[in-house]
Amino acid sequence: MKPNKVTFSKDMKNDVPTTLLIFLCQWVFIMLLLPSCASASCDRVDRDALLSLDFKASSPLNWSASSDCCLWEGILCGPDDRVLHLWLPGRGLSGSVSPAITNLTYLTHLNLSQNTLLGVLPDGLFSSLFHLQVLDLSFNRLNGHLPISSNEASKLQIVDLSSNYFNGTIPSVTSGSLTIFNVSKNSFAGSIPISVFCKNGSNHNNLTFVDLSFNRFTDPIPTGLASCSKLQVFRAGFNALSGHLPDDIFGLADLQQLSLPVNRLSGPIGNGIVGLTNLKILELNSNQFVGNIPSQIGNLVRLEKLVLHSNNLTGAIPPSLNNCTNLSTLNLRVNNLTGELSAFNFSTFQLLTTLDLGNNNFTGKLPQSLYSCKSLTAIRLASNNLQGQILPEIVALESLAFLSISNNNLTNATGAFMVLMGCKNLTTLVLTKSFLLEPLPNDESLADLDGFHKLQVLAMGGCKFTGQVPTWIAKLKSLQVLDLAFNLITGSIPGWLGSLPKLLYMDLSNNLLTGGFPEELCRMPSLTSKEADDKVERSYLELPLSLMSRNGTNQQYNHFSQLPPTLYLGWNSLSGNIPIEIGQLKFLHELDLSHNNFSGSIPVQISNLSNLEKLDLSYNHLSGAIPASLTALNFLSFFSIAYNDLQGFVPSGGQFSTFTISSFEGNPRLCGYQTAQQSCSLSPPSPPVFAGTQRSSNKIPSALIFGITFSIFLV
Ligand SMILES: *[C@@H]1O[C@H](CO)[C@@H](O)[C@H](O)[C@H]1NC(C)=O
Ligand SMILES: *[C@@H]1O[C@H](CO)[C@@H](O)[C@H](O)[C@H]1NC(C)=O
Ligand SMILES: *[C@@H]1O[C@H](CO)[C@@H](O)[C@H](O)[C@H]1NC(C)=O
Ligand SMILES: *[C@@H]1O[C@H](CO)[C@@H](O)[C@H](O)[C@H]1NC(C)=O
Ligand SMILES: *[C@@H]1O[C@H](CO)[C@@H](O)[C@H](O)[C@H]1NC(C)=O
Ligand SMILES: *[C@@H]1O[C@H](CO)[C@@H](O)[C@H](O)[C@H]1NC(C)=O
Ligand SMILES: *[C@@H]1O[C@H](CO)[C@@H](O)[C@H](O)[C@H]1NC(C)=O
Ligand SMILES: *[C@@H]1O[C@H](CO)[C@@H](O)[C@H](O)[C@H]1NC(C)=O
Repeated sequence: MKPNKVTFSKDMKNDVPTTLLIFLCQWVFIMLLLPSCASASCDRVDRDALLSLDFKASSPLNWSASSDCCLWEGILCGPDDRVLHLWLPGRGLSGSVSPAITNLTYLTHLNLSQNTLLGVLPDGLFSSLFHLQVLDLSFNRLNGHLPISSNEASKLQIVDLSSNYFNGTIPSVTSGSLTIFNVSKNSFAGSIPISVFCKNGSNHNNLTFVDLSFNRFTDPIPTGLASCSKLQVFRAGFNALSGHLPDDIFGLADLQQLSLPVNRLSGPIGNGIVGLTNLKILELNSNQFVGNIPSQIGNLVRLEKLVLHSNNLTGAIPPSLNNCTNLSTLNLRVNNLTGELSAFNFSTFQLLTTLDLGNNNFTGKLPQSLYSCKSLTAIRLASNNLQGQILPEIVALESLAFLSISNNNLTNATGAFMVLMGCKNLTTLVLTKSFLLEPLPNDESLADLDGFHKLQVLAMGGCKFTGQVPTWIAKLKSLQVLDLAFNLITGSIPGWLGSLPKLLYMDLSNNLLTGGFPEELCRMPSLTSKEADDKVERSYLELPLSLMSRNGTNQQYNHFSQLPPTLYLGWNSLSGNIPIEIGQLKFLHELDLSHNNFSGSIPVQISNLSNLEKLDLSYNHLSGAIPASLTALNFLSFFSIAYNDLQGFVPSGGQFSTFTISSFEGNPRLCGYQTAQQSCSLSPPSPPVFAGTQRSSNKIPSALIFGITFSIFLV
């Protein structure tokens, strides 16, 4: 909307022929009065109010006392020169909203969104601005309660207060004119204020969009929604709503989106939902719903997104679902769904791009009808009881990028890899905990002919695979994550692993590997250059990834950054010295060499791994002293050198003051504060001093931040 002065043609009565003199007089008169005339044409009360707002903008507003305020940037006046619109979104406004705004009593449109306004809204805002129709204060830093009480603001049509810090309850004002009500991303509490949206029993309700998500609303959803008969979008996810879905939601014939994820809703979903035949998006994930998926769900023929994951749903996938031919996302993971998966006919889902049926109790073979869903880009069937083989027909899924069938009972790994090589767009392949006791696929032709050339994640841990690390992996130039943990792999660690250009997470732990720590690993390009850190922040996973955790359980990751740059070689039979070149892996966050036969001393160069958060060297034969410079590792949160043959003083200072005796036990010749043997025969060396030492608490590791942000799914 462009600010403009609304002008009205005044009927200029042209009287009898006027003399030149009169004309000139008029002209002079106008010239003399022009400046004051102009400023006078804007209502003085409004002009004073606007000037009192005292807005600081990123570049100055042309608001000057000497000119007509109706011509100012962001202002639109009405016929009687009263200010109707104050419209300054994204103008870099800072400071708070002055109480002077309540003097703009003719205001109908107020848009100050996308600024950095802070503080509370002035008292009386709503009672004074009773002509207000459009109010958009979204994307600011406003806080406090809404200064509104009942029967105010009855003309409001559009309210967008989203993305601020407002709190308190929303008073039950009634407005029959609301069409859009968005208060998402605030801290509002209490029950959902149904009466705000829709007048009970009135048929003048125009409300179409309601967004209450990301607040602190509690209690069951009150009845009364049925009066919002024109509602198209209802979003209230990420709150603490409880109780059942109220039946009157099922009467909202126009509803296109119902999104209530991440609440505490319970009970059955209810068959009534199949009456909402205009639904395109149904998101009820991460609640406590029980019972079956309504058997007539297929009535929702417009459905594009069905997201019911992380509930306690039981029974089979209703056959009628295949009538939902517009589905693009079907996510039912983490429920107790059962049944023979191949009994369901997936072939009608020609638009389906994302399918997640993981963490259920589905049985039977991999459904062959799935291979005809040509649009699929991501499939996750992990953690079910599926068996059989991956069939060659899967190559028909030309867009397939993400495939996770881990934690099932598949067979024929070699066949599976030969077949999957044909899926040219695969970036993520997760086949952990399946194929028990088969030989590692090691056919040299794998990864030839462009096969797997886009593969970034290859997870084959926990399969008890036998054989040596397959050489075809050397051809996977895009590989970032390699998980071969918990297998029965023999032989030594091949040096070529150190030259995979993008590799930044490698887990070879819990195998039968022998030989030394190859020096080539110290040159892994992604761990020696800045690239590693950069990559971790920007990559994202379409669906969760299951890798082997260090204790052998399936660990699920929702975001790449939960996978810090890592080298896990623990629980093998590796021997020899830890190479001093290890100090080059500057971007490594986690290093586990525990439970091996490494000997020699701890290389002082490990102190150069300044990003290290976890260092486990326990259960080896390391000897000599603990390098005092290790105390310079500011981010170290886990450290163990237990059960070695180390001696001398345990250094103090830095993160070392947070480690307990368990980090050092099993080294009878160690002495000092954190050991059983407190006194040393020699006098302690003076602790090293590090200039500008910063504690790790000053910089929370990025992995932790993203881990928390994206761990909602983790159950
Ligand atoms: C102020 O700026 C707006 C455009 O941002 C312009 O339309 C208006 O004419 C200007 N008014 C004055 C008094 O300079
Ligand atoms: C407020 O202005 C922003 C930026 O121009 C715009 O995107 C938004 O739609 C406006 N709000 C309303 C309610 O029109
Ligand atoms: C409400 O506002 C948020 C931004 O704060 C936006 O992401 C969301 O789409 C809006 N909701 C609706 C229903 O338009
Ligand atoms: C899911 O339901 C089953 C049986 O109804 C019950 O035993 C189990 O505790 C429920 N789990 C959760 C997480 O609610
Ligand atoms: C799918 O819809 C058709 C009509 O469009 C209906 O005859 C059929 O029974 C439905 N299928 C299921 C499994 O409900
Ligand atoms: C393993 O899979 C391949 C490829 O699908 C197939 O040719 C082969 O017959 C399978 N082997 C067995 C033992 O089923
Ligand atoms: C295994 O380790 C993961 C983290 O790596 C942890 O969340 C889980 O609780 C552990 N499980 C057991 C059984 O120790
Ligand atoms: C540690 O790194 C610094 C510079 O980054 C370098 O000067 C020093 O030689 C390195 N120390 C070791 C022990 O590698």
